[in-house]
Amino acid sequence: MKYLLLLCIPLLFINCKTEAPAPAPIQGLIAQEAMVVSAREEASRIGVEIMKKGGNVFDAMIATDMALNVTYPFAGSLGGGGFLVYRTKDGDIGALDYREMAPGAATSDMYLDEDGNVIPGLSTEGSLAVGVPGGLAGMFAVHEKFGSLPMETILKPVIDLARNGYVITEKQAGRFSALQDKFKELNGDSIIYVNAFAKADTLKNEALAQTLERIVANGKDEFYKGETGQKLVDFLQSKGGIITMEDLAAYEAKWRTPVTFEYDNLKMISMSPPSSGGVCLSQIMQMIEPYDISQYGHNSVESIQLLTEAERRAYADRSFYLGDPDFVNIPIDTLISDVYAKNRMETFSWDTATKSSDMTHGALPGYESMETTHYSAVDQYGNAIAVTTTLNGAYGSKLYASDIGFFLNNEMDDFSSKPGVPNMFGLIGAEANKIEPGKRMLSSMTPTLVEKDGEFWMTVGTPGGSTIITSVLQTVLNVHEFGMTMQEAVNAPRFHHQWLPDVVLFEPNSFDPAIISGLQEKGYETNEERSPVIGKVDGILVLPNGTLEGGADRRGDDTAVGF
Ligand code: GLY
Repeated sequence: MKYLLLLCIPLLFINCKTEAPAPAPIQGLIAQEAMVVSAREEASRIGVEIMKKGGNVFDAMIATDMALNVTYPFAGSLGGGGFLVYRTKDGDIGALDYREMAPGAATSDMYLDEDGNVIPGLSTEGSLAVGVPGGLAGMFAVHEKFGSLPMETILKPVIDLARNGYVITEKQAGRFSALQDKFKELNGDSIIYVNAFAKADTLKNEALAQTLERIVANGKDEFYKGETGQKLVDFLQSKGGIITMEDLAAYEAKWRTPVTFEYDNLKMISMSPPSSGGVCLSQIMQMIEPYDISQYGHNSVESIQLLTEAERRAYADRSFYLGDPDFVNIPIDTLISDVYAKNRMETFSWDTATKSSDMTHGALPGYESMETTHYSAVDQYGNAIAVTTTLNGAYGSKLYASDIGFFLNNEMDDFSSKPGVPNMFGLIGAEANKIEPGKRMLSSMTPTLVEKDGEFWMTVGTPGGSTIITSVLQTVLNVHEFGMTMQEAVNAPRFHHQWLPDVVLFEPNSFDPAIISGLQEKGYETNEERSPVIGKVDGILVLPNGTLEGGADRRGDDTAVGF
């Protein structure tokens, strides 16, 4: 034994010299029972307080969502819409679509000039960019089906927050000041957001507090048939908008069947159309599943190449096939089948990049910042949700309805204004996503739940327009294939490809130059400047001992709160 030890000492020494000790894993907040991870600490905290009062994750969802309307007007859902994917403690799954819809007076050529060219800015700024908001209808649909506490109890802390104010963060102050001129141009200088706010200032929104009080008193009709709706319509029409009281009254949130598929021992549960998120995520994961990704290494040339080629093919299909399922027939079963995925990858070569120009959608028998927002939550009963909501662009259309206290979306830009012309995310659309009255515009939002070996394992999602799908994909793979903690998976540098334009985006200063040049040598065009960050992922992972780990994205002010 002594000789054995002596023999081992030089070996240990060699090992010590050549291998640095592995860094300790970085973990996010650990909680025993329940957690909310969202874009703002106040919103996460209010959601958790509701659960501590005995409320379930759906009550917490409403509280968190409405608190984000107060503290995160960048992407608040009252003037916009969103998607929920849920899994109850009994394993029942479902999805809610409260996406905005085109007003009754919308037409397929409403953003084109007399020569048939897209008029720049018309679908992204001002009153014609606004789709009929679905956010509040979504909250009431959730409350009716799953709520356990009265709306008054759920909204009380939110009303207090709007009335008493919240503290502005440094990142938020920067965003407000960057958009001062635009806010003034579209709204005049009377709105609260044209004041020069600095970090640590307190911002109060009394108009929003009063809107929420009227909602508590009068329910959903306050927004869709009552005083708040009338104020909204009057405001938009004074700015040349076309949304009417009839459009508001006709709006309804719709329960949908989520897209589900298997990947190794995981069951993925994600958002169905009118979001492209679940379908694209499924296509990409089916295309990469036959490959042993973990052996290539995280963010290696091979793993980036494989994901990029799968993304190219899925986004080409997205542009052609996907739209509002109530208006177009989408061949979902075929698109997400493993046979189709295998056929799609037949042109993939490790030697050289496929050219997007040589590729279109499969035969069957964009770029941006962080305009959307996502939150994930799990309650003490075992229910889990993933919710992504949006105004589309930062502060949506930039139109702020002062009387009722919130910004209005510019979601109409998510339609295809003209086939082949890219929207603000560079996404190309076709007939399936053309504008029609009452139709919902195609989304990329990908709120996703994951089961592992039949048990709930992860809730995850992100803002980021067209980069949402690829950010969710990389986060799930980071944990499942590369063994990262939830926080490490969220922190890890991200890249993105979406078929057109034919370029792979990388977060700046995050990737080894040798990896970038390795990809360039194979024919990939790369860009490390266009997107300062890709995605802003929030997620929760169930650890082997049953506790919850939160992953709150360092790229924003995102915060996990739990107990
Ligand atoms: N507005 C971004 C999306 O829905 O994908």
